[in-house]
Amino acid sequence: MGDFSGKIVIVTGGAQGMGRSAALAFAREGASVAVADLDEQAGAKTVSDMVGSEGRGIVIVADMGVSADCRRVVEETVSTFGGVDVVFNNVGIQPAESYADAVDLPEETWDRIIAVNLKSRFLMAKYAIPHMRERGGGVIVDNASVQGLQSMPGVSAYAASKGGDLSLVRQLSLDFARDNIRVLAVCPGTIDTPMARMAALSTGRDVESELRDYGKTHPLGRIGMPEEVANVVLFLASDRASFMTGEYVCVDGGMMAMGVWAGGAGADL
Ligand SMILES: NC(=O)c1ccc[n+]([C@@H]2O[C@H](COP(=O)([O-])OP(=O)(O)OC[C@H]3O[C@@H](n4cnc5c(N)ncnc54)[C@H](O)[C@@H]3O)[C@@H](O)[C@H]2O)c1
Repeated sequence: MGDFSGKIVIVTGGAQGMGRSAALAFAREGASVAVADLDEQAGAKTVSDMVGSEGRGIVIVADMGVSADCRRVVEETVSTFGGVDVVFNNVGIQPAESYADAVDLPEETWDRIIAVNLKSRFLMAKYAIPHMRERGGGVIVDNASVQGLQSMPGVSAYAASKGGDLSLVRQLSLDFARDNIRVLAVCPGTIDTPMARMAALSTGRDVESELRDYGKTHPLGRIGMPEEVANVVLFLASDRASFMTGEYVCVDGGMMAMGVWAGGAGADL
């Protein structure tokens, strides 16, 4: 695993789920980590769980769907730690009311999902990249989704935000390659986080058996754990991935390798 000693990392949505796992992993590898999240209490718990990294973790309470907050996250990180080397754009939302087709989807829900899941990526690039340039380079890793590659009925805003994210990753990788800034994405399948558990709960079925059923759509036969995504994020952000940019990596138990004709995806159109 890459050594992040002396590196400064921002993790958006770092209080819970995959963001929390990545924040803990970066801290374990020696980084100073700014956890940007709406949830101050959960963010403080993530920071206090950073084993042996006293003083190298901070929480910045921020709504990543708000431009001024994105800017402040970068400014507070720079004023606390002295710069930015890595941004893990992890934050993402998929609220229950967003499961609707374009006719029924409220416009405000579309705007909110695009602001949090996609515009925050643009804003974090806009504000963090000048500081990365000052340090001679940097890495941006976005948490997209397999839903940026394929989709299902009734998730137009989420799917658009994730597809847009992958396109923006390619674009940023081209625009900032000469600055030695690499830009990459992970596309997780279903991962056991509060988001996945909320989705399972909303079906009205038993959460554990619902999660087991989600697992059946993944060739490895189970859903993933947040740490399994964090491992890949750290690799991409490390010097071990020094010749990778403009690329995404699926962390999906083989889901994207499988066609619907294989009988596992079960989309009921
Ligand atoms: N869980 C999955 O199965 C799955 C699969 C593919 C992709 N993803 C993507 O991975 C990323 C992380 O997902 P997760 O499942 O860990 O999410 P989660 O909901 O479990 O955790 C998200 C974190 O983001 C914070 N957050 C939410 N809105 C925020 C905002 N506006 N500003 C700041 N913080 C905010 C929450 O407080 C929480 O700490 C998201 O981009 C999501 O779309 C998730």
